[in-house]
Parts: sequence; structure tokens; C-alpha cells
Amino acid sequence: MPVHRIRPDISVLSDSLEVPGIGYIPVNAFVLHAPQPVVVDTGLGLPDRHFLEVLAQVVDPADVRWIWLTHPDRDHTGGIDALLAAAPDAKLVTTFVAVGIMSCESPLPLDRVHLLNPGQSLDVGDRTLTAFRPPLFDNPTTVGFFDDLTGVCFSSDCFGAPMPAADVAESTDARGLPAEDLRAAQLMWASVDSPWVENVDPKRFLDSFHLLRDRAPELVLSTHLPAAEGITERMVDTLGSAAGLSPFVGPDQAALAQMLAGFEPTGP
Ligand SMILES: [Fe+2]
Ligand SMILES: [Fe+2]
Repeated sequence: MPVHRIRPDISVLSDSLEVPGIGYIPVNAFVLHAPQPVVVDTGLGLPDRHFLEVLAQVVDPADVRWIWLTHPDRDHTGGIDALLAAAPDAKLVTTFVAVGIMSCESPLPLDRVHLLNPGQSLDVGDRTLTAFRPPLFDNPTTVGFFDDLTGVCFSSDCFGAPMPAADVAESTDARGLPAEDLRAAQLMWASVDSPWVENVDPKRFLDSFHLLRDRAPELVLSTHLPAAEGITERMVDTLGSAAGLSPFVGPDQAALAQMLAGFEPTGP
């Protein structure tokens, strides 16, 4: 689980998950090294991941002041309980509905929560972070943000793409993939993660990219893509074309049975 300091004020905690037949899905968390340090999402909760120990390579967990949870899907909440315990001064930046969803598993003390809706901003010492709803998402509570000092966009699931290998998924640069391959992978991810794009009105859908077009971030950081520098316009064009896309349909039971039959028996 490599940690990349991609800018003086940004670390990427890179991870990935292999999905048979699809590829390697990057699963990133981030640290924004502002005067009030911000952790953005908390990775996978698999037993061997040890989120806190990885985080401690770049920031003392006790110094973390904000945990920006872009949405409470399990690939974003792996280290959350451990981090809340290790960072007594940290508040969880999230939404009212996300708190409700999380309360189904482990209720959050409300004095540890900071509710922030799209359009609102958070002051982290030397800059503000302005929340927005990314154009594509798989959870209704999803909130990404723009760093108002540097322009960097944290886009949550939006712009994700399966990668051909784990080392590519955990690399520092989405431009490592040829443009056409990246485009195909991002549309594939859109068809998996946001199957509702099949039903959207193309014009209204395109309008939902207006903030990204206006702010034109030089760097886009998605949970499910290596850091994407200097290709925002191209990526917006890719996802802007997703209206009407056919949803991904996974293998059915017959396909699973065929796959299992192909495995060599193990054991005595
Ligand atoms: Fe998600
Ligand atoms: Fe996700």
C-alpha cells in the first residue's frame, strides 16, 4: 500500500482491489497537509490494510483535525473508527443523510460530526475547501470538494477507472494509461458505478459538469483513479458523453458455475 507525496501539501495513500473480469480498481485515500490536516476518506477495511499505520507515515494521526468522508461506502470507511479514536480533535465532515446511513452500523457521536452540504465551505487554516456534488456518484450523500487555494479537485468516485494491473492502479499518474484506454476504462466504471446515467437527459447531465468546467482544476484526485494532472478537460469530455450509457451487467450464476468448474481442485 504505497504512499505518494505528490505535492508538498498532498499525500495519496494508494491501494487497489482486483475485480475479476474488470481489472484493478484504485482505492485511494488522501491527506491534505493544511495547517489543520485533512484526511479524505479512509480506504478499505480489509484486515491486512492497517490504515492508521499507513497514515502515520505522512501525518501523526493525533494531529488530524478533519476527516472528510466523501460518502459512507465501505471502500471509503475502512479506517474511520480507528482514526476517530486516534484523532480526538478531529471532526468527521459529512452530511446529515450520511450520518443516518452510518448509524445503521456504528452510531456516530454527533459532537464528532461537522455537517457540510454542497456549496458550503470549510476553513482549514490557510484555505477553504468548497463542497460540491460530483456529476457521477453511486451514493446519494456523495460530496467532493475544491481546494480554493490550489484549485485541486477531490472528486470521490467520479472519474474512476479500472486499471490493467495493481502497480498501475497504485501509481501516481493517470496519464500512464494511453488516452483511449483511459477513456474506455472511465466509461466502463461509469456504467458500473453510476448505472443511472442510462436514463439522464443529455443536456441536463452536461450542465452538471459546469463547476468542473468553470474551475478547470489542474489536478483531479479521484478515489478510484491515479492522480490526474492536466487532463481535466479530456476527462470531462469523456464522462460528459456518458448519458444513455448501457449499465454494466455482471456475470450470472451460470457464468460463475463455469468459472468455478475451471478452477483446479486444491487440498488432499
Ligand atoms: Fe461509492
Ligand atoms: Fe468508492
